[in-house]
Amino acid sequence: MFKVLILAAGKGKRMKSEIPKVLHRLLNRPMISWVIETARKLHPDEMGVVLGYKADEVQKVLSEDIKVFIQPELLGTGHAVMCAEDFLNFDGDLLILYGDVPNIKAETLEKMLSKHREESNSMTILTAFFENPTGYGRILRNESGKIVSIVEEADADEETKKIREINSGIYVFKATHLLNGLKYLRNDNKQREYYLTDLVKIFLESGQKVETFLVDNPREIAGVNDRIQLAKVEKLLRLEINYSHMLNGVTIIDPESTFIDPEVKIENDTVIYPSTFIYGNTTIGKKCEIGPFTVIKDCKIGDNVRIVQSNCEDSEIFSGTSVGPFSRLRPGTVLKENTRIGNFVEVKNSILESGVKANHLSYIGDSEVGENTNVGAGTITCNYDGYKKHRTRIGKNVFIGSNSALVAPLKVGDGAIVGAGSVITEDVPDDSLGIARSRQINKEGWARKWRMKKEKEVQGLNPEKEDAKKK
Ligand code: UD1
Ligand code: MG
Repeated sequence: MFKVLILAAGKGKRMKSEIPKVLHRLLNRPMISWVIETARKLHPDEMGVVLGYKADEVQKVLSEDIKVFIQPELLGTGHAVMCAEDFLNFDGDLLILYGDVPNIKAETLEKMLSKHREESNSMTILTAFFENPTGYGRILRNESGKIVSIVEEADADEETKKIREINSGIYVFKATHLLNGLKYLRNDNKQREYYLTDLVKIFLESGQKVETFLVDNPREIAGVNDRIQLAKVEKLLRLEINYSHMLNGVTIIDPESTFIDPEVKIENDTVIYPSTFIYGNTTIGKKCEIGPFTVIKDCKIGDNVRIVQSNCEDSEIFSGTSVGPFSRLRPGTVLKENTRIGNFVEVKNSILESGVKANHLSYIGDSEVGENTNVGAGTITCNYDGYKKHRTRIGKNVFIGSNSALVAPLKVGDGAIVGAGSVITEDVPDDSLGIARSRQINKEGWARKWRMKKEKEVQGLNPEKEDAKKK
């Protein structure tokens, strides 16, 4: 049997936050979820977490299969594990992870587990060499290089503090040995805490095998204690995602300023321009151009789509379509093949069939727009009467003249034309002209006469000009 226990009772004082540390977000998901996702890749039979500070809030983000143990008072990492005693009584291995070390990789843990099993250890400790080991427990070894103990920073003398090999806090235990060992932990140290790390000595004294496993990339065990470290770890995770897309054939012009959520899928030869944010359950096809300055969330995007300086949410964008600059697609938008959505156009809960153009300054809401219809600049579908939303149905090959208001519920038939500047309140039949505005009159010569009158007025009222004339 194999289980994983995640320690996450700490408040995270240095975060200066009312939110428990492990709920602070990395790429839009709580820190603890990263650890859980990684642990799941190891296919444990059971997973547990030890919670303390605002445990109920943390529990809300955990799925039901995860066992929760409460540590009522933070008396150290050893005590945290004691609080999960019921979880430890089994024949097999237990992996201990931290909720605030989110960048640990499943491959590393797998290698560590294999070593633990091959060597039949009671305890295997993940260690690393740090340039600056301050704050961490140090790995003490004897002349033959065998680990003898872990010394916490608070209890270390000057010589020990110089040791650069540190304890990551990640371990694999033989569960029964751990359960038994916990009984011998004492809090007779500087911090008055029950140190899980004291098990090294306890195990060695009773002849059990303790070994270490050195992590290749020390960044994997970077912990998050304050918001600077939060940003640093997020950047690591973000660059990893960006680089993996790049290795799959996506061009990312500036990986440092590109934010892509882990579940996003992008096909090859798509180019992502700087300052672009692609969130949630989004898929993007081949040869698209996305960005710059674009936010996309939960969208399904085909091939050869171009989206510039725009916001798109919960929308479906078919191949060959162009969006932006400065467009907004709100939830429920479907843009079929080769549609054009231009600057300052907002679309919501609407289907635009292939070839539709809405190039400038429009609002299209709760509408259906048929194939190859042209929606002129400034067209507004008036979908809301103050109480209810209504639908606008526009047929195919329609021409909606600029600055028209289409008052829903409304149907404009196939091939119809709406005259510019109209307020359309009644259905327009197929192939008809719908026009609703007052007729134009031209008064010939009126402008010239009016200007002459104005000139005289101005001259009469300008004494300086009169003076100049006299001289
Ligand atoms: C611990 C190790 C130290 C190691 C360091 C790595 C001990 C005694 N020391 O340090 O050797 O270098 O981790 O980061 O184990 N937690 C609880 N309950 C508690 C205390 C801690 O759940 O009572 C959790 C925290 O939420 C956190 C993790 O355990 O996720 C580590 O706690 P932290 O206080 O940061 O570690 P240290 O004890 O300082
Ligand atoms: Mg501590």
